[in-house]
This record gives sequence, structure tokens and C-alpha cells, in this order.
Amino acid sequence: MGLCLTSGLAGRCELGQLAVRGENLRGQAFGEGFGARRSLGNVPLAGPAIEPVPNFLERRNVRDKGRSFLGISSIMKMHCVSRLRWFVLLQGVAGLWLAPASVSAQPAAAVKISVATKNFAVDFEVGEGGRLYQHAVGVAPGKLQRADEAYPQAGDGYIWEPALQIVHADGNTSTVLIYDSFTRPNASDGRELTRIQLHDPAYPLQVTLCFRADRDRDVVEQWTEIVQHEAGAVTLERMASTAWLLPATNIYLTHFFGDWAKEMLSPITEAITPGMKVLDSKLGVRADQFRNTSFVLSLDGPPAENHGRVLAGSLAWSGSFQCAFENDGDQVRALCGVNPFASAYHLKPGETFTTPIMIWAWSANGLGDLSRKLHRWARDFGLRDGHQIRAVLLNNWEATGFDFDFQRITGLYAPAKAMGTELFLLDDGWFGNKHPRVNDAAGLGDWQPNRQRLPDGLAPLAAAAVKRGLRFGIWIEPEMVNPKSDLFEQHPDWVIRQPGRDLELQRNQLVLDLTRPAVQEFEWNTIKEILSVPDITYAKWDCNRYLTQPGSAYLAPDRQSHLGIDYVNALYALMDKTAKQFPATELMLCSSGGGRVDYGALKYFHEFWPSDNTDPTQRVPMQWGYSYFFPALAVASHVTHWGNRPLHFACSVALSARFGMDLDLTKLSAADQAICAGAVSAYKHIREVTLLGDLYRLEAPHGNHRGAVSYVAPDQARAVVFVFQLKDGPSPAVRPQGLDPAKKYTVHELNPAPGRAPMAVEGKTFTGEELMRDGIAPSCANGLEASVIELAL
Ligand code: DGJ
Repeated sequence: MGLCLTSGLAGRCELGQLAVRGENLRGQAFGEGFGARRSLGNVPLAGPAIEPVPNFLERRNVRDKGRSFLGISSIMKMHCVSRLRWFVLLQGVAGLWLAPASVSAQPAAAVKISVATKNFAVDFEVGEGGRLYQHAVGVAPGKLQRADEAYPQAGDGYIWEPALQIVHADGNTSTVLIYDSFTRPNASDGRELTRIQLHDPAYPLQVTLCFRADRDRDVVEQWTEIVQHEAGAVTLERMASTAWLLPATNIYLTHFFGDWAKEMLSPITEAITPGMKVLDSKLGVRADQFRNTSFVLSLDGPPAENHGRVLAGSLAWSGSFQCAFENDGDQVRALCGVNPFASAYHLKPGETFTTPIMIWAWSANGLGDLSRKLHRWARDFGLRDGHQIRAVLLNNWEATGFDFDFQRITGLYAPAKAMGTELFLLDDGWFGNKHPRVNDAAGLGDWQPNRQRLPDGLAPLAAAAVKRGLRFGIWIEPEMVNPKSDLFEQHPDWVIRQPGRDLELQRNQLVLDLTRPAVQEFEWNTIKEILSVPDITYAKWDCNRYLTQPGSAYLAPDRQSHLGIDYVNALYALMDKTAKQFPATELMLCSSGGGRVDYGALKYFHEFWPSDNTDPTQRVPMQWGYSYFFPALAVASHVTHWGNRPLHFACSVALSARFGMDLDLTKLSAADQAICAGAVSAYKHIREVTLLGDLYRLEAPHGNHRGAVSYVAPDQARAVVFVFQLKDGPSPAVRPQGLDPAKKYTVHELNPAPGRAPMAVEGKTFTGEELMRDGIAPSCANGLEASVIELAL
């Protein structure tokens, strides 16, 4: 026992017997030791005694270079105590003796670890049994009990939805995680990394909970690393990225139901009642079609813009995902990560499995403050070149569809330039020869420019754009293949499909199996060749189907369940390579619209295509939904004829995010050309504010006749207010927010609609306080009218 005292393991000594499995201990440990909120004493306690402890120690000797347990092993032999009991003690001792310098040297039972930002903390504590517990977010620390475990494991007494479920090499379906140590490798740069190391006392399995806390932005990123050294592969059945506990009282979840052309359109706010609410997808190669990986939890009832404690969650993963919210009556656990559905992962000895990153952002002042912090984080770390304004873009997709050739496209350049466009994007339809890409039925996979349409390839098309003073961008969909293609004819085994089943096509196409090295090479060569064409400085990376028959002819039969995870990781490797090899090429992320809007892929991209639906009446609520999590800089917003709305209204909506057009400018009336030209010059005038400033959501459009948002420059010298009159109805003064109350702002409507009476306050000057108190009566009053109002010192 002297060992316990000198090592500070008194807590463990007292409870050592409680932690030993097979000794009928949990009833005591959790019924008595951990308070009576919910005793696990009535949970069946039987479990096999763990035999192979000495062997495990031997293995740890080999594994933990520089962490010798030999001395401990010999001490063990000298004592007639339960080997398991000793093992529990010695684990802690070893951590103290042999830890790296930065490892916490506190007694395990007293260890408290706070992952903290300026205004937020998630607090962990090593409790009885050496397990790691979490105090529910936003609640004063109370007595800990088993249901509070930080990263609960299946199969050994925990009865709720686990974060970790493992089948060990010997078939044991239980896992126990005991605290080892924590490190703070970089405590000083404002983005503090905390690594909490846990291990299974009966198996050579380590789990590290990793957190990166962004102090100023109140953002915490979390992921988990799992490494094992058992005799064979272990199977990860569940491996959550995060498993935070929250109070169950008055907690609400806001999530976003959608579909193709309806992405983020319908926010749903609901109380998290006892039971389990699951948001998930099983689409394999993208996260979203119906449910997005981003959501908001509010702790003080339904969320509000300017008050209340709110937590945004966003899983950085572009494949099948699951976010489960389990209310056990006392508290809510939010488990997010890779969808466990059909994703069993066999981890070989020595391999590390790293989960996707979960991004959490906190505010005690409502959704507005929450979004502004998350946007700042995104501009700094979540997407590429987040402090760089975006060019005026003209895309040909809505204008020409697949029907174009060299003349048609180059004919669009002069009017584009005259309008003030800076970047031309050539969409789908430029490739394929034996199977020309003249519609969506053929050509995908054959990335040679179509000789009839573009006899000299892409280079002259790009050069002609540059000659006109436009940058040139290109559409690619490197992951896909049409059965009608050279590629499929040559490599039918390269596609993802299930043997013995009829091929199921979506949009006439199949997904190439990116787990296969030859496919990785093919896709990389395709991307490299296209982006190396001189003068191509922009690309739209599309992905127009998801997996419905997830089978790989490359992966071994017992690895078929790896397909979704290995695919997404291979995809990220490809995206990473692309971003690194072409640092000056801007990238738009697209997946039939918004199928891949997540921070997993976005970090390789500059912006995303939120939806094919560009009807401005729908884009107002959609872009509002995206704005909770993503800054306007990343939200491509194009003027089109979708919905046949007045062009002035469509332009005003597009101006509220990253502006572009998808129009045949040669077919616009003179009046519409003037409206578009006015919008382009307005965008150039305001983009520093809208793309790099702070967003204030003023009036929610959902179910309302009007919506309004505003952006304020970081120095509060300028602001832009957008008012969208969606339907006829009252049009009262709009009240901006975020202005400097003492500064004097002059009010000016940008690109006003022709023929409409100017605002009563046009050209007048008011203090920020007056404007925020009294509001501004906009010029728009009828349905499908909009006002873009600049406030400048
Ligand atoms: C789907 C995208 O969302 C559209 O914008 C367009 O690029 C088409 N694919 C092209 O096939």
C-alpha cells in the first residue's frame, strides 16, 4: 500500500477493488461511491475475469518504448494480491513515473481537466475507478455517476448509447477505459490542444480524446484516436468523435431538414425529450441530402438571436454520419461521428483510427453571436483563403446547359466583361469523344475535351477568357463514371457496386471506387492534367450521386464495411493534394447542390454551391440556414432566372453572399442588363463588408413576408442591410444591429430598383444609436422587392 500513498493513488487504492472486473464491484462502486442519482447496482454484474493481464503487460513493454513496466512486473510477482487489482494500481504509477514532461502529474483521482475557451469550458474529472467523467456543459459540477462517463464504452455496465463499441481480437465485446494522463503540447498559441489518454486495463488498447480549444472564438474541435496492439484485429463498431453531456432541462435541438433543391430550407426546432433523436445519413460519399451535419443545441429553451446559451455542432465529415441525442431523463448526451451503420472497422495491431473532427462553438448570447464566432473561426481555419474577397463569377450552366461549343462560350466573354464579371466558369459538357458529354447519359470519366466542341482543347478557351480580362474556371466530377464511357468499358471493376445485383444508376452514373489505388491514381492524374491547363485558376468539383450499393471489388470480403470510411479518407487525400499542388486555384465544392456542405471537405475549398435551387425566394431562407454555420464568403449565391422572379430581387439576394451570375447575358433586356451591371458594381463596393464582416440576422424569413440580414465591417465604419420583401405585407422600418452607437452613418440605397421611390432617409446621416433604435424605412414595400442599404461613415 506504500506504493499507493507515495504515488498519490489513494483514491485508486480505496477503490481499486471496485474497479476490478469479475469481483462483483460495480454495484458497490456506482451504487455507493458515485451517488444515487442512478445506481447501476441492478445492472447484471457478471463478467468474465480477465486472465491475460501479465501477457498484456509484456506486450505493453514491447509497445511502449521508453515506458518500461519490468520493475512493476517484478513488484507484482512479490505481492500476493489480485493481479488485476495490482494492474489498476500500477497503471497509474507507470503514468506518473514515466510520463513525458508535459503530462499531468496529479493523482489520478484528483485530476480535473478543463478544456476551456474565453467564455466556455467543458470539464472532465477522473473519478472513482479511474474512469474519466464529464460535468454536463453549463451546469455547476455535481457529484459524478456512471452515466457521466466522458466517452462511454459498450459492454461493461454502461447502459446508454455508447461512444465506443469494440469487439476485441479475442471476441470480447466489452471495453473499459481508464484514465492515463493528459498533455497540453501547445498551451500558448490561443488554440490549445489537450490530449487525454485512456487505456483498457485488460487489453493493449489506447484511446486518446483530443481537443483543440480556440480561446477567442469559443470554438472547440474534438476528435478521438484509437490505437490497439492486440494479437489480431479489433473491430470498431462505434467510434464517436464526441459524446458531450448537456443538461436535459429545457434543451432544444435545431436541425435542418432538406432534399435536393431544398437544402437547409426547413429548420426544425424541437425539445429533446427522453429517448433518442437521431440525425444521420447513409449516403457513403457525401454527408447530406436530407440532413446536414450541422445543428444547434440551445440550453435555455428555443434559441434566440440575441440571448440564451447555444452550442453549434458541426461534424467535419463528408460521408455517412450520425448525430444522436439521447435524453436519459437527467441529461442529454450528444454523440456525433461516423455513422455506425454498416461501418464496422477492423483495426490491425499498431494501426490508429482517427475519427472525424467535431466542431463545437459556444455563445451565452444567442445565435447571432454564435454564428459570428463560428464565421471567424471558419475564415481563419475552416476554409481556404478565408480573408480573401471573391471575384464576380459568371457560370454558363443555367445559360447553356450541355449545349455549347467554342464559339458559344467565347461569345459570352465580351458581355461578361462589359458587365464587370471577373471570372468565367465553364460547367459540365466539355469532354468525351467516343461518348460525348452532350447530356448526362454519357462521357463521365473520359476527361479529354470534346474535339467537335473544343477542337483545340481547353487552353484556347481559357486563353481567350484571359485575353478578355476574365479568369477562367472549369467544372469537374472526378469521382464518377457513366457506363457509356471509355473508362467504364476499360475498367468495369473500378466502380462501386454489389456483385450479383443489377447496377443501380443515379443520374446515369456510378461512383468510382476510390479505395482502389489505380482509381486514386486515375483521379489524381485527371485533376492534375485539367488544372495544369494554362490559365485555369478556378474549378467546381461536383459529385452527383451517392452510394446505394456499397460494394468494392478491391476491398477484401472482410473489409467491405470499410468502404465508406476509406472512400472519404481517400477523397480527402485527393482534395488535400489538389489544394497543395494548385494553391492559387480557387475551388468550389458542389454535390448536386449542397450535398457536401461540411467542414471536412470545406477546408480544401474556398466556397460551396448551396443548392441547385437559385429561386431567390427560396435562397433567402436557405442562405439564412447556412449562415448559422458558414460565413457568406463561402456561400455561392448566383443570379438566375429560376422561379422567374424580378431580376432586381434576384440580384439583391445574390448580393447578400458570394455573388455570381448564371445567366445568358446576351439575352437580357437593356433594363435587366442595367440591373445586373448595377448589382456587379454594388458587389465590388460592398464585398469587403459582406464577405469579411460580421453577420447580424435581423428578421427571419421562415413563414414571414419579409427577411432581413446585415453585415458590419470589423471596424464598424460600414454596414450593409438587406431587406427582402418575400410577399406583399407590411414593410416597417428595419433595425440594424452591431453599429457603433456613437458613430454617424450616412444611409444610401445601393443599386435601387428602377422606378421605385427612394427611401425617405436616402442620403441622411444618423448615429448608430438612432439607426439601431428607430430603424430605416426601406424602399421595398411589395412582394419580390428588395433593398440593399449601405451605412457608411
Ligand atoms: C449539379 C450541379 O449542382 C449543377 O450546378 C451543375 O454543375 C450540374 N451538376 C452539372 O452537371
